[in-house]
Amino acid sequence: MPEKPLSADEKLQQEFNRWAAEGRGEEMERHHLDITEKTIRLMNLRPGERVLDLGCGSGWATRLLARLVGDGPEGFGQVVGLDVSDEMVRRAREASKDFENILYVWGSAQQLPWEENFFDKVLSVESFYYYPDQDRALMELFRVMAPRGRLFILINLYSDNKYSLQWVDKLKVPVHVRSAAEYVELLKKHAFENVEARRIPDDTPTPDNYPTQSFRSVDDLRAFKREGGLLLMASKPDLRTPAPGYTIY
Ligand SMILES: C[S@@+](CC[C@H](N)C(=O)[O-])C[C@H]1O[C@@H](n2cnc3c(N)ncnc32)[C@H](O)[C@@H]1O
Repeated sequence: MPEKPLSADEKLQQEFNRWAAEGRGEEMERHHLDITEKTIRLMNLRPGERVLDLGCGSGWATRLLARLVGDGPEGFGQVVGLDVSDEMVRRAREASKDFENILYVWGSAQQLPWEENFFDKVLSVESFYYYPDQDRALMELFRVMAPRGRLFILINLYSDNKYSLQWVDKLKVPVHVRSAAEYVELLKKHAFENVEARRIPDDTPTPDNYPTQSFRSVDDLRAFKREGGLLLMASKPDLRTPAPGYTIY
Protein backbone atom coordinates (compact mmCIF):
# COMPACT_ATOMS: atom_id res chain seq x y z
CA MET A 1 0.00 0.00 0.00
CA PRO A 2 1.40 3.47 -0.87
CA GLU A 3 2.50 5.50 2.14
CA LYS A 4 0.24 8.39 3.20
CA PRO A 5 1.89 11.70 2.22
CA LEU A 6 3.12 13.80 5.14
CA SER A 7 1.06 16.85 6.14
CA ALA A 8 2.74 20.29 6.11
CA ASP A 9 3.13 20.15 9.90
CA GLU A 10 4.62 16.65 9.73
CA LYS A 11 7.17 17.89 7.19
CA LEU A 12 8.11 20.74 9.55
CA GLN A 13 8.33 18.29 12.43
CA GLN A 14 10.66 16.05 10.44
CA GLU A 15 12.90 18.92 9.32
CA PHE A 16 13.18 20.54 12.75
CA ASN A 17 13.75 17.18 14.45
CA ARG A 18 16.76 16.91 12.15
CA TRP A 19 17.92 20.42 13.19
CA ALA A 20 17.49 19.44 16.86
CA ALA A 21 19.52 16.23 16.43
CA GLU A 22 22.33 18.30 14.86
CA GLY A 23 22.38 20.62 17.92
CA ARG A 24 21.06 23.57 15.92
CA GLY A 25 18.34 24.31 18.49
CA GLU A 26 20.95 25.31 21.07
CA GLU A 27 23.11 27.03 18.40
CA MET A 28 20.28 29.41 17.52
CA GLU A 29 20.66 31.15 20.89
CA ARG A 30 23.91 32.67 19.65
CA HIS A 31 22.26 33.92 16.43
CA HIS A 32 19.01 35.24 17.92
CA LEU A 33 19.98 36.39 21.42
CA ASP A 34 20.73 40.06 20.67
CA ILE A 35 17.45 40.80 18.85
CA THR A 36 15.45 38.62 21.27
CA GLU A 37 16.78 40.45 24.34
CA LYS A 38 15.85 43.78 22.73
CA THR A 39 12.35 42.42 22.06
CA ILE A 40 11.94 41.03 25.57
CA ARG A 41 12.75 44.49 26.96
CA LEU A 42 9.84 45.87 24.91
CA MET A 43 7.53 43.16 26.30
CA ASN A 44 7.55 44.85 29.71
CA LEU A 45 7.06 41.52 31.48
CA ARG A 46 5.85 41.43 35.07
CA PRO A 47 5.83 38.67 37.69
CA GLY A 48 2.59 36.74 37.53
CA GLU A 49 2.04 37.01 33.77
CA ARG A 50 1.19 34.07 31.52
CA VAL A 51 3.40 33.90 28.44
CA LEU A 52 3.50 31.73 25.33
CA ASP A 53 6.80 31.15 23.48
CA LEU A 54 5.56 29.98 20.09
CA GLY A 55 8.07 27.89 18.12
CA CYS A 56 10.29 27.73 21.21
CA GLY A 57 12.98 25.44 19.76
CA SER A 58 15.49 24.41 22.45
CA GLY A 59 13.80 26.69 25.00
CA TRP A 60 16.60 29.20 25.71
CA ALA A 61 14.23 32.18 25.26
CA THR A 62 11.48 30.37 27.21
CA ARG A 63 13.86 30.25 30.18
CA LEU A 64 14.64 33.99 29.85
CA LEU A 65 10.90 34.70 29.94
CA ALA A 66 10.31 32.34 32.89
CA ARG A 67 12.85 34.20 35.02
CA LEU A 68 11.06 37.50 34.38
CA VAL A 69 7.52 36.38 35.22
CA GLY A 70 8.38 34.02 38.13
CA ASP A 71 7.47 34.65 41.71
CA GLY A 72 6.22 38.12 42.64
CA PRO A 73 3.53 39.95 44.58
CA GLU A 74 1.05 39.39 41.75
CA GLY A 75 1.54 35.61 41.76
CA PHE A 76 3.56 32.95 40.06
CA GLY A 77 3.81 33.55 36.31
CA GLN A 78 3.87 30.68 33.86
CA VAL A 79 5.51 30.22 30.46
CA VAL A 80 4.38 27.69 27.90
CA GLY A 81 6.91 26.78 25.20
CA LEU A 82 5.29 25.19 22.18
CA ASP A 83 6.96 23.60 19.18
CA VAL A 84 6.02 21.33 16.28
CA SER A 85 9.28 19.38 16.68
CA ASP A 86 9.03 16.77 19.44
CA GLU A 87 12.83 16.51 19.51
CA MET A 88 13.15 20.27 20.19
CA VAL A 89 10.55 19.90 22.96
CA ARG A 90 12.41 16.95 24.48
CA ARG A 91 15.68 18.89 24.55
CA ALA A 92 13.99 22.01 25.92
CA ARG A 93 12.47 19.97 28.79
CA GLU A 94 15.83 18.38 29.54
CA ALA A 95 17.51 21.81 29.79
CA SER A 96 14.73 23.35 31.93
CA LYS A 97 14.52 20.89 34.82
CA ASP A 98 15.30 23.62 37.35
CA PHE A 99 12.26 25.66 36.33
CA GLU A 100 8.92 25.15 38.05
CA ASN A 101 7.05 27.66 35.91
CA ILE A 102 7.71 26.29 32.41
CA LEU A 103 5.59 23.80 30.54
CA TYR A 104 6.69 22.55 27.12
CA VAL A 105 4.03 21.36 24.75
CA TRP A 106 4.38 19.54 21.46
CA GLY A 107 1.90 20.99 19.00
CA SER A 108 1.30 23.17 15.99
CA ALA A 109 0.83 26.92 15.77
CA GLN A 110 -2.08 26.13 13.49
CA GLN A 111 -4.00 24.27 16.19
CA LEU A 112 -2.89 25.52 19.58
CA PRO A 113 -3.75 22.96 22.25
CA TRP A 114 -4.79 25.62 24.76
CA GLU A 115 -7.87 27.33 26.17
CA GLU A 116 -9.06 30.75 25.02
CA ASN A 117 -8.28 34.15 26.59
CA PHE A 118 -5.30 32.77 28.54
CA PHE A 119 -1.97 34.38 27.61
CA ASP A 120 -1.05 37.94 28.64
CA LYS A 121 1.92 38.01 26.25
CA VAL A 122 3.12 35.96 23.29
CA LEU A 123 6.66 35.85 21.93
CA SER A 124 7.58 34.05 18.72
CA VAL A 125 11.21 34.15 17.55
CA GLU A 126 12.20 33.22 13.99
CA SER A 127 9.29 30.84 13.54
CA PHE A 128 6.27 32.61 12.05
CA TYR A 129 7.34 32.48 8.39
CA TYR A 130 7.42 28.68 8.50
CA TYR A 131 3.73 28.32 9.36
CA PRO A 132 2.00 26.93 6.26
CA ASP A 133 -1.25 28.78 7.01
CA GLN A 134 -0.38 32.06 8.72
CA ASP A 135 -4.04 33.16 8.76
CA ARG A 136 -4.95 30.12 10.77
CA ALA A 137 -2.02 30.65 13.17
CA LEU A 138 -3.18 34.24 13.76
CA MET A 139 -6.76 33.09 14.40
CA GLU A 140 -5.40 30.63 16.95
CA LEU A 141 -3.22 33.29 18.59
CA PHE A 142 -6.17 35.67 18.81
CA ARG A 143 -8.21 32.92 20.46
CA VAL A 144 -5.68 31.96 23.16
CA MET A 145 -4.60 35.53 23.99
CA ALA A 146 -6.24 37.35 26.89
CA PRO A 147 -8.18 40.55 26.11
CA ARG A 148 -5.56 43.35 25.93
CA GLY A 149 -2.88 40.65 25.57
CA ARG A 150 0.24 41.65 23.62
CA LEU A 151 1.76 39.80 20.67
CA PHE A 152 5.46 40.02 19.68
CA ILE A 153 6.48 38.27 16.47
CA LEU A 154 10.18 38.56 15.61
CA ILE A 155 11.42 37.36 12.21
CA ASN A 156 14.66 37.64 10.27
CA LEU A 157 13.22 36.68 6.89
CA TYR A 158 11.12 39.37 5.21
CA SER A 159 11.31 41.02 1.83
CA ASP A 160 12.42 44.49 3.00
CA ASN A 161 15.73 43.04 4.24
CA LYS A 162 17.02 41.87 0.85
CA TYR A 163 20.08 40.21 2.43
CA SER A 164 17.79 37.74 4.23
CA LEU A 165 16.60 36.43 0.85
CA GLN A 166 20.04 34.87 0.27
CA TRP A 167 19.22 31.88 2.45
CA VAL A 168 15.66 31.09 1.28
CA ASP A 169 16.86 28.56 -1.32
CA LYS A 170 18.96 26.77 1.29
CA LEU A 171 15.91 25.93 3.42
CA LYS A 172 14.37 22.50 2.92
CA VAL A 173 10.82 23.57 3.81
CA PRO A 174 8.66 26.24 2.16
CA VAL A 175 8.52 29.67 3.80
CA HIS A 176 6.53 32.89 3.43
CA VAL A 177 8.42 35.97 2.31
CA ARG A 178 6.30 39.05 2.96
CA SER A 179 7.06 42.72 3.52
CA ALA A 180 6.59 44.54 6.82
CA ALA A 181 3.60 46.38 5.32
CA GLU A 182 1.99 43.08 4.25
CA TYR A 183 2.42 41.65 7.74
CA VAL A 184 0.85 44.75 9.28
CA GLU A 185 -2.19 44.33 6.98
CA LEU A 186 -2.40 40.63 7.87
CA LEU A 187 -2.49 41.35 11.60
CA LYS A 188 -5.11 44.08 11.13
CA LYS A 189 -7.23 41.70 9.06
CA HIS A 190 -7.32 39.41 12.10
CA ALA A 191 -8.71 42.21 14.28
CA PHE A 192 -5.48 42.90 16.18
CA GLU A 193 -5.11 46.50 17.39
CA ASN A 194 -2.11 48.83 17.85
CA VAL A 195 -0.32 46.97 15.08
CA GLU A 196 3.26 48.18 14.68
CA ALA A 197 6.31 47.00 12.74
CA ARG A 198 9.79 47.88 13.92
CA ARG A 199 13.33 47.04 12.80
CA ILE A 200 15.55 45.42 15.43
CA PRO A 201 19.21 45.60 14.34
CA ASP A 202 21.61 42.93 15.56
CA ASP A 203 24.56 44.76 17.13
CA THR A 204 26.82 41.75 17.69
CA PRO A 205 30.19 42.18 15.92
CA THR A 206 31.05 39.86 13.01
CA PRO A 207 34.78 39.04 12.71
CA ASP A 208 36.38 39.08 9.21
CA ASN A 209 37.07 35.34 9.38
CA TYR A 210 33.49 34.42 10.40
CA PRO A 211 32.47 31.26 8.48
CA THR A 212 29.12 31.69 6.76
CA GLN A 213 27.28 29.38 4.38
CA SER A 214 24.04 31.33 4.47
CA PHE A 215 25.41 34.61 3.05
CA ARG A 216 27.50 35.39 -0.03
CA SER A 217 30.06 37.25 2.06
CA VAL A 218 30.79 38.41 5.60
CA ASP A 219 29.95 41.94 4.43
CA ASP A 220 26.48 40.77 3.36
CA LEU A 221 26.01 39.12 6.76
CA ARG A 222 27.00 42.40 8.44
CA ALA A 223 24.56 44.31 6.23
CA PHE A 224 21.80 41.81 7.08
CA LYS A 225 22.41 42.36 10.80
CA ARG A 226 22.50 46.12 10.36
CA GLU A 227 19.15 46.10 8.50
CA GLY A 228 17.85 43.99 11.36
CA GLY A 229 15.02 41.63 12.16
CA LEU A 230 11.38 42.63 11.82
CA LEU A 231 9.41 42.91 15.04
CA LEU A 232 5.63 42.89 14.71
CA MET A 233 3.74 44.08 17.76
CA ALA A 234 -0.01 44.03 18.28
CA SER A 235 -2.71 43.83 20.95
CA LYS A 236 -5.86 41.80 21.21
CA PRO A 237 -8.73 44.24 21.77
CA ASP A 238 -10.38 44.36 25.16
CA LEU A 239 -13.46 42.44 24.16
CA ARG A 240 -15.04 43.07 27.55
CA THR A 241 -15.45 46.72 26.60
CA PRO A 242 -18.21 47.06 24.00
CA ALA A 243 -17.57 49.35 21.05
CA PRO A 244 -19.41 52.70 21.31
CA GLY A 245 -23.08 52.27 20.46
CA TYR A 246 -23.18 48.59 21.50
CA THR A 247 -24.56 47.16 24.72
CA ILE A 248 -23.69 43.76 26.08
CA TYR A 249 -26.75 42.14 27.67
C1 LIG B 1 14.40 28.78 13.36
S1 LIG B 1 13.75 27.87 14.69
C2 LIG B 1 13.68 29.06 16.02
C3 LIG B 1 13.58 28.41 17.37
C4 LIG B 1 13.65 29.34 18.57
N1 LIG B 1 12.53 30.26 18.62
C5 LIG B 1 14.97 30.09 18.56
O1 LIG B 1 14.97 31.30 18.26
O2 LIG B 1 15.99 29.47 18.83
C6 LIG B 1 12.02 27.72 14.22
C7 LIG B 1 11.20 26.89 15.22
O3 LIG B 1 9.82 26.98 14.87
C8 LIG B 1 9.25 25.71 15.00
N2 LIG B 1 8.07 25.62 14.11
C9 LIG B 1 8.05 25.63 12.76
N3 LIG B 1 6.79 25.48 12.31
C10 LIG B 1 6.00 25.38 13.41
C11 LIG B 1 4.57 25.22 13.60
N4 LIG B 1 3.74 25.09 12.56
N5 LIG B 1 4.10 25.17 14.86
C12 LIG B 1 4.95 25.28 15.92
N6 LIG B 1 6.28 25.40 15.80
C13 LIG B 1 6.81 25.48 14.56
C14 LIG B 1 10.36 24.75 14.58
O4 LIG B 1 10.18 23.43 15.01
C15 LIG B 1 11.60 25.41 15.18
O5 LIG B 1 11.88 24.94 16.48
